[in-house]
Amino acid sequence: MSNSIKISPSILSADFSKLGEEIINLDKAGADYIHVDVMDGHFVPNITIGPEVIKKLRPLTKKTFDVHLMISPVNNYIEQFALAGADIITFHPEATEDTNETIKLIKNHKKKVGISLKPKSSIDLITKHLENIDLVLIMSVEPGFGGQKFMPEVIEKVKEIKKIVSEKKLNIDIEIDGGINFENCKVVKNAGANVLVSGSTIFKENSGNIKKNISLLRSN
Ligand code: DX5
Ligand code: ZN
Repeated sequence: MSNSIKISPSILSADFSKLGEEIINLDKAGADYIHVDVMDGHFVPNITIGPEVIKKLRPLTKKTFDVHLMISPVNNYIEQFALAGADIITFHPEATEDTNETIKLIKNHKKKVGISLKPKSSIDLITKHLENIDLVLIMSVEPGFGGQKFMPEVIEKVKEIKKIVSEKKLNIDIEIDGGINFENCKVVKNAGANVLVSGSTIFKENSGNIKKNISLLRSN
């Protein structure tokens, strides 16, 4: 999973009045994953979309649905997101009483498991789970909103995780999410991230030329 750079556009910055069309365009523009930010107004101070919307979008593309759950308690909803068509289900360890249990629930549905760390969350929350998961999502902004400024202090965390992953020869994605642009994409790749989430840069730069923006994030 972890060799080449993958781009996972966040539909948080898409036009929600024509989400289906936006998904089809992202597919054609060369996105690798489709990043779906799910927020509950409780774990984070914003509300977005739920499983019903994902279910309706599912038939429009074969791309991997990279579902980032910012909801708590998360366990009650895993099944619904799995049935809706998520491929990767990522949760925050603070949103569950038992991280192992949540991993197991996701795996029971034969979905890939991701764990996300907020900027201030320690990697100790995930190190003992690395053998059991498919993806680590490092947040480079406080979760809740698109369009925030990248927090450079998380680069160190990416490096630390990359080091452990390499030492243990694990085949997992290291994904970075929040404020990624054409400049900082280089440093996060060098630090070891291989999946880049981006909302504002992909949908807003170069007059919204998503194809160009995806390819610039990949090649820069
Ligand atoms: C924030 C979300 C991110 C974010 C990405 O809580 O998880 O996916 O919206 O958007 P940009 O690239 O605009 O920071
Ligand atoms: Zn996200």
